[in-house]
Amino acid sequence: MNATLIKRLFKIISSGNINDLQKIAKTIIEEESKKGHTKLVSELNKILASNSELNPRNTNRELPEKSKDYIDRVDSNSIQEKHFSTLPKNARYDFPLGTYIETTKLEHEMILPNDIEERFKRIEKEYAARDRLALYGLLPRKKILLYGQPGCGKTLGAQRLAWNTGLPLIKVRFDSIVSSYLGETATNLRKLFEVATQSPCLLFFDEFDSVAQSRKSNQEVGEIRRVVNSFLQLLDEYNAPGLLVAATNLDEQLDPAVWRRFDDVFEIPKPGPDELVKLIKMTISSIGYNTIDWEKIVEETNGFSAAQMVRSSRDAAKRVILDGNNIIRTEDLIKAIRENGGAR
Ligand SMILES: Nc1ncnc2c1ncn2[C@@H]1O[C@H](COP(=O)(O)OP(=O)(O)O)[C@@H](O)[C@H]1O
Ligand SMILES: [Mg+2]
Repeated sequence: MNATLIKRLFKIISSGNINDLQKIAKTIIEEESKKGHTKLVSELNKILASNSELNPRNTNRELPEKSKDYIDRVDSNSIQEKHFSTLPKNARYDFPLGTYIETTKLEHEMILPNDIEERFKRIEKEYAARDRLALYGLLPRKKILLYGQPGCGKTLGAQRLAWNTGLPLIKVRFDSIVSSYLGETATNLRKLFEVATQSPCLLFFDEFDSVAQSRKSNQEVGEIRRVVNSFLQLLDEYNAPGLLVAATNLDEQLDPAVWRRFDDVFEIPKPGPDELVKLIKMTISSIGYNTIDWEKIVEETNGFSAAQMVRSSRDAAKRVILDGNNIIRTEDLIKAIRENGGAR
């Protein structure tokens, strides 16, 4: 089990929240299943099924007051899941405008420079303390715009925010909203914002580029312009109980009219030397390594995105395992790095 999961498990144990315990049990089982530990998975499933504490609706005995509250939350969670499983559809193509991603399916482990980690944590802390802030007439940061080059963790960042706040993630691709039917786009957008107002969630607009692009450099015509205007208006009016996160690859082209409507705008930068090493260590943590020439590795990965670093580390790990070895060496990493476009 990885360190984040262990820490999360312990936090939940200390809070005694049965609903969260159920979720983490499911995550652990999924992780073990991905590793191919089928025997363990079936044993874990049996243990869960036999434990009435973790299966509160199966038990007839009188529950203490506190547990009743947990059961209510379990129930309200399943209502929420039902709510999000029928998201509004694009009338023309009959596909949902957003995808609901279960909390247990979220990727959330991130390696970031300290200042960026702090910016994520501040959002999470303010959200957790929203009731306390409200007593003083203050609002948490709710509308967040993440930008940066591809593969540095924008999509991952949104998942991490959902994981740490416990909010269901609704992922929206802008291109799925844009419709060639006049006027339908604005309706589609409004429907999504309504869903977010009715039930707390993290509404995530991925690949937000067409809207974030400076309107000056954009051909201000047709549907895109309508999308931009409807979106900006909805963004101004947004007062839902959850969070709204948008992500774009653009930086200097960001339209000031767009970013000033967000409560927090920041870049997820490419990993520096420290982050590159941490990304490798995180990815190969289940395999052994002796002395690795980190300096050489950092030199070879100059300009790498986090995604490239993770992919190279996974490639090296797989090769080592298939070769029947159990130790990753510097040369295994270098080989994979070069295959993934590393500096030569
Ligand atoms: N900061 C990061 N820390 C750890 N892994 C990362 C990070 N950024 C990217 N990754 C890895 O790269 C993959 C792709 O990243 P993603 O969030 O989709 O990038 P983006 O949305 O910025 O293009 C992730 O699934 C993850 O494996
Ligand atoms: Mg992305």
